[in-house]
This record gives sequence, structure tokens and C-alpha cells, in this order.
Amino acid sequence: MNRPEFRHVLTFLTLLTLVLLPACEPAPAPPSEGTGDGGAEWISGTVDERFQQVGDQLAGFSSTMFEVAHRYRELHWAVEDQNWDYATYQTEKIAAATELGIIRRPGRAESARSLFLGAPVDEMLAALESGETDVVERAFREFTAACNQCHMAEEMEFVVVGAPESRSTIVQP
Ligand code: HEC
Repeated sequence: MNRPEFRHVLTFLTLLTLVLLPACEPAPAPPSEGTGDGGAEWISGTVDERFQQVGDQLAGFSSTMFEVAHRYRELHWAVEDQNWDYATYQTEKIAAATELGIIRRPGRAESARSLFLGAPVDEMLAALESGETDVVERAFREFTAACNQCHMAEEMEFVVVGAPESRSTIVQP
């Protein structure tokens, strides 16, 4: 191979490399739709099926109770701290969460309404409005008893709730 020929071959090989190199690198993955693990695909199927999947993810009464348990603990410490505004806020949130829960699980509505959402919630709010510590503490005991009465009525008698012993809130006194 004479020199000019060699140069042509070299030029050809260089161009070939430049054309082929990008093809060897894997194309960057398209950004996923916000789930972080590459899949918005878990919501699939017909519109009805997709609504069902979202509904299943919301869960039933157990997710309500998960929230209620947290708020009940906060309520306890709010009462201990005599932070009546925070205690009122938590009592209202507990009632609202329970209302949403019985939309998802109407079978729990009768117990919730007859044992909890009426007098126990109203009396807790009224006690907090009074701002008298002993009245609030008595109402909180009644409120707690109402949680447990509903557990009895709903065949969850093995869930007996009560005031936590060690401070668990990050909300400062
Ligand atoms: C409708 C009646 C009802 C009322 C009122 C109620 N609960 Fe429940 N609770 C349930 C039922 C039913 C479950 C089981 C839920 C499930 O798994 O489907 C439960 C479960 C729980 C659990 C276990 C949750 C878990 O899975 O970790 C806790 C804790 C709890 N409740 C706390 C409370 C507290 C605190 C209150 C009052 C502020 C309260 N509940 C009021 C019916 C009730």
C-alpha cells in the first residue's frame, strides 16, 4: 500500500469510528414519570381498572387507623402541654380522618357514628374550648374509651389504646 492509499484507509477508518462510536453507548433512559423507579406503568388497564388500582393503594380502614393513631398520640402530648389549639386541631383531624374512612368502608360507619363521632368528639372539643385542664383530661379519658368501644364493636378488641408513656412528639411544649 503506497502512502496516499494508506492515508485514505486511515481517513475511512477514522470516519467509521466516529459514526459507530455513539451507537455503542447505551441511549440515556427517558426520565420516568415521577415514581423514581422507572414505572408509571403500575396504573394500567381500563379506566375502571386504573381507578380500582388507585383505590386499593388508598387502603381501607387500616390506613385511617394508622393516621388516627398518630394524631391520638399528638393529641395526648398537646393535652399534656396544655396546647389547646394543637389539641383542637388534632381532634378535628381525627374526626375528619374517621369520616373519610367510613366513606371507604361504610360497614364501619354505624359503630363510628354511634360510638365515636358524636358525643366523644363533641365533648373533647367543648372541653378544649373551656381550657380547663381537669375537664380536658376527663374528656380525653372518655375519648380514649370511645376508641376502645369501637374496637370492641368492630371485633378488634385486641387493640386497646391508651396514653403513651414516653414523649413521642416533635412538637415542642
Ligand atoms: C369504627 C370504629 C373505630 C373507631 C372510632 C376507632 N377505631 Fe381504631 N380500629 C378500628 C378498626 C376496624 C381497626 C382495624 C382496621 C383494619 O385493619 O382494617 C382499628 C385499628 C386500630 C389500630 C391498629 C392500627 C394498625 O394497623 O396499626 C390502632 C392503633 C387504632 N385503631 C387506634 C385507634 C384510636 C387511637 C382511636 C380513637 C382516637 C380509634 N382507633 C378509633 C375501628 C375503630
